[in-house]
Parts: sequence; structure tokens; C-alpha cells
Amino acid sequence: MPAFSRFSPLVKTLPATVPFVGPEAIERNRGLEVKARIGANESGFGPAPSVIAAMAAAASETWKYSDPENFALKQALASHLGCRAENIAIGEGIDGLLGQIVRMVIEPGMPVVSSLGAYPTFNFHVVGHGGRLVTAPYEDDRENLPALLELVRRENAPLVYFANPDNPMGSWWDADSIIDFAKALPETCLMILDEAYCETGPAGAMPALQALIDQPNVMRTRTFSKAYGLAGARVGYVISTPENAQSFDKIRNHFGMSRVGVAAALAALQDQAYLGTVVEEIKASRVRISAIAAANGLKALPSATNFVAVDCGRDGTYARAIVDGLMEHGVFIRMPGVAPLNRCIRISAGTEADMALLEEALPQVLKALS
Ligand SMILES: Cc1ncc(COP(=O)(O)O)c(C=O)c1O
Repeated sequence: MPAFSRFSPLVKTLPATVPFVGPEAIERNRGLEVKARIGANESGFGPAPSVIAAMAAAASETWKYSDPENFALKQALASHLGCRAENIAIGEGIDGLLGQIVRMVIEPGMPVVSSLGAYPTFNFHVVGHGGRLVTAPYEDDRENLPALLELVRRENAPLVYFANPDNPMGSWWDADSIIDFAKALPETCLMILDEAYCETGPAGAMPALQALIDQPNVMRTRTFSKAYGLAGARVGYVISTPENAQSFDKIRNHFGMSRVGVAAALAALQDQAYLGTVVEEIKASRVRISAIAAANGLKALPSATNFVAVDCGRDGTYARAIVDGLMEHGVFIRMPGVAPLNRCIRISAGTEADMALLEEALPQVLKALS
């Protein structure tokens, strides 16, 4: 008799790993306290006071499920973005939506194209659905669009992932290059254009909404987790054709959205003045991080996101020692996962209190390593 197996052959092959070790786990495992939480690209500036008030008001209504059609949020996003509500699908953050997209497109063994060292949660979903990741290395610390296109053609891949601006390097392409890439793709290949950091990028880096909205092989993913300061609320959305947006209804968790989270997103859209203030604070914090890096002989890379990749000039082991050393001082940061990107550390924008802790700790850490 063959041994009894409860799980599918695919699931049996998967490692039960946690893709990101969170700051809470670091505190538990190392007995350390996180004093500056500038590692997960959250927003230490927090959500708007108006958003917190809306969440508080929604809290007493939380015995009710959220509207499974997300009608109000789709309407609000459509009027904010200048598209139709039918162009939008809502989900539990971009991470949740990425899983749904992979599930809709990928069968075991199919090739999926991404960049080597790009956002790992996407890879996690690809592997979880049996896809075969095919990656192109970054070029000059930027995702390599021509190489991605070549890989798509070579593999006849049905799915390609590209983040603009990108995590973990903070780099970006201009809108025209992205539109050219999307237009050059075979129609059989779906492009995920992950715009998690669209609010903090330069204006010229974001293709106009209308430029790609009618293209059936493009899905743009966005989130309230970054500049809007709502990572814990788990609200993301997809902008695509009505047919694509509707296809999420076939597989999504219809009661997956939290009522408080949706209330937060609605209020956040209403408070664009606060968003503008935060974006300015993020830009100032990027300058501050770069200055702290320079004062310590390290080189900050240009960034269009709410974090800065700082080149530490050596290998991944050295960068890891800096990440671990900073944590000893209560400063939580992260770093890219693969060479040569992992010569860098990645520091999220934060408040002046966060920056002061970083400024104090970094020279001590570097000195201890010298
Ligand atoms: C490129 C990219 N996409 C998606 C996400 C996750 O977004 P969400 O919180 O909406 O799941 C992140 C968060 O770090 C990210 O860097």
C-alpha cells in the first residue's frame, strides 16, 4: 500500500517557510526591542487623522461583513483615478491579488518571468501554484526591461511581473519605456505592472491610466499600504479591462475585505492633502537617509519609493552584518536577497525620531565591523 498522503503532490514539495521574518519575530527570537521600525516599507508617518477617525467609527459596525461587491470603494477609486468602476478589482493588499492572478493564469510547470531578486512574495505565489520561475538579472540596479521581454519570448511565458518603481532597489523606468514594453509583449503574455510605490515616484515614471487600460494583457496593481500608511488594513486593487477585473469574482474570497479596512481606504482617498504632506515627508526622509549614508562613507542609490537602498560597498555577508548590528541598537531594516543587490541595505523612510536612532547607531555598527 502506498503511504497515505493528505496533501497534493505540489503542496508536499513546498517548504513551509515564512518568506519574511517580521520585526515581531525578531523581537521574540532575539530578545530585542524594535525602536525604529524602518525595514518593511510601511509608513511610520501613519494614516491621516481623518482615516483613523473613520476607522474608529467603523469599528462598532464591524459585526457586519463588508460589502462583498466592494461597490463604494470601486466607485470612489474610479472617480479618483478617472476610469470606470468596472475597471477595478479589490483585494487583500497587492499580495493577495498577486496570488489570485497567478492562480488564474498558471498551471504547474508553466514558465513565469520576473527579475532575479525582485519582490519575493510574487515568487512565493508562483511556486505555490507550481509555476516555474525564469528570471533576468537587474542591470545597473534596475530591472532589465529588454531582457524580460526576451525571456518572455524565449519561454513563451504566459505571465511576467515587473514593479515600477521597484522593490528592493527603489529604481524606476519612465512611462514611455513601460508602455513600449507592454505593447511589445505577445498578447498571450499577461503583464503584472506592480505600482505599489506609484505615489512616491516621479510624475514621468507612471504611464497615464488610459495608456494601458484597454490592453487585455496588462494588470496594474496598487495599494493603500505604502504612502497612505495602511499596511495593516490590507487593501489593494487592480486596474485592468472590465473582463479581467470581473474574472477575480471567479476565485476571490468574497468576504475577505475587512469593514474597517475598507472604511479606511475610502477616507484615505478623501484626504489627498494628507497624502501630499506624507509624500513630502518621504522625500525629505530619503534625503536624510542618503545624508546619513554619505556621512558614514556609504552610497545611497536614487529612489522613487518610500525606502532607500544603500550600497555598503562589499558583499552580502557584510550587508547582513550591518542589518543584524543595527537591530542590536533597536533599528530594524532589511536588505535585498540576492547578489549583487545584496551588497546593499534597504532603509524605509521614517520619522525624525527613527532617523536620529539610525544616525546614532550606524557609525557604531560600522566601527564594530571594521
Ligand atoms: C513591489 C511591492 N508590491 C507589493 C507589496 C505589498 O503590498 P500590499 O501590502 O498591498 O500587499 C510590496 C510591499 O512591500 C511591494 O514592495
